[in-house]
Amino acid sequence: MFDAIEKLKEYIGYQSVSADSAYKEGMGQTRDFVAKMLGDLGLSVEIVNTPKHPIVMARRTGDPSWPHVVIYGHYDVQPVDPIELWETKPFEATIKGDRIYGRGAADNKGPQMAHIAAVAELLEECPDLPLRITFLIEGEEEVGSPSLLPLLEERKEELSEADFVLLSDTLSPSSDQIAVTVGLRGIVDMEVELVGPKSDLHSGLHGGAVYNPLQAMAEICASLHTPDNRVNVPGFYDDVTEVEEWERDELKELGADMDAYAASVGVDALHPIAGYTPFEAIRYMPTLEFNGLWGGYTGEGSKTIVPAKASVKITCRLVGNMKPDVVGKLVADAILSRVPKGLKAKVKMGHKGVPYLVVPPDRPNTPAGQSEVLANAYRATEAAVTDVFGKKPLFLREGGSIPIIADVKRVTGLDSVMIGLFLPEDNLHAPNESMSLDVLKKGIQVSKRILKSVAGV
Ligand code: BES
Ligand code: MN
Repeated sequence: MFDAIEKLKEYIGYQSVSADSAYKEGMGQTRDFVAKMLGDLGLSVEIVNTPKHPIVMARRTGDPSWPHVVIYGHYDVQPVDPIELWETKPFEATIKGDRIYGRGAADNKGPQMAHIAAVAELLEECPDLPLRITFLIEGEEEVGSPSLLPLLEERKEELSEADFVLLSDTLSPSSDQIAVTVGLRGIVDMEVELVGPKSDLHSGLHGGAVYNPLQAMAEICASLHTPDNRVNVPGFYDDVTEVEEWERDELKELGADMDAYAASVGVDALHPIAGYTPFEAIRYMPTLEFNGLWGGYTGEGSKTIVPAKASVKITCRLVGNMKPDVVGKLVADAILSRVPKGLKAKVKMGHKGVPYLVVPPDRPNTPAGQSEVLANAYRATEAAVTDVFGKKPLFLREGGSIPIIADVKRVTGLDSVMIGLFLPEDNLHAPNESMSLDVLKKGIQVSKRILKSVAGV
């Protein structure tokens, strides 16, 4: 019998930090673990090599008339630092009470395990299940999935012929209130360097004569938002689209305890864009965030210099019809136009992702041609979550990004059914990441019911 918790413990033990080349060996071991785990279920495994971290594909083929589901997940995880804040070892799964701790427990090894375990149990219970399954487990999600788009294009024919994608790599508000994610924000990433004098200068000899790059950087960064927290870049909001009434109704059902939310992130006031509640702002509106800002001397004590350089890392989250290339250029142009004389700016664009929206069946704006298999999968998801978790799911957009989901739609035409299996308290991308085992067990039951229903048994 497939033991999901044992397998997850083992999975977490493999060190799969995709961003850091020091983890090359761990990435390889993780890939082999995933390949063996899926192979042991009787699937035929293919390891697709890429310039960085391979993609694991595993197929259960069958009669072409059977429905075909693609199950997506990622075996890579975020870096573990600051390591001193971990109470357990990040790569040694530790169970405390109802939770399993370790890097990747929630993002994405645990939620992904719900679907792997569901397939394992289903194939054991009904070996003749009339369902074709393709697992697509990548190792570069946390670094922007650079290799998955080329794979999609290469395997377009095979993948287009599937019915939909099933995954769990999004958030639910709580274990009592599961969300089915119907929207992801897009993203565009960039780094800007301002270069001033040819080297750091003595601020007594030169301060007052030379424009300080850190001062200019601070001024430029401060100019990028208005006091009502709008992004101050011409054209930034041009492609934001209206939100449907049914979506607002779903979000209302989530409630709006803003004090609790503020407390949960450790601030005593929230600062959403004017005209939107914080929960709306996260889901419906784009942002421009500073992820890191540095330059000059940051060591102990003081150093009297005019620094030679200053840098900032920026990411924008995108919604509606906003396009990463277009928005990236708008922001870069705005920054370049604000650089004072005497300084030069270099802008380096990073990863990007297009926003994604899907409309479940039976909504006023459901596309007329929506496939029956997809509509059924959504209905089965609603019924399964209601039965297993005891409450109907909310169909919500999410503020995070999984860039590949929009790419899959564009290249293959497939939509995604996304069931939120991580929770706000799971510490994604942070120390002491964990997942609720109760959610994992219920997630397995939900996934089984969806897959059975899609297979028509
Ligand atoms: N699982 C997350 C995406 C996510 C987070 C969805 C929260 C919904 C709510 C994913 O692994 C992730 O972190 N994605 C990155 C994308 C980036 C690296 C291109 C993100 O959203 O920052
Ligand atoms: Mn993830």
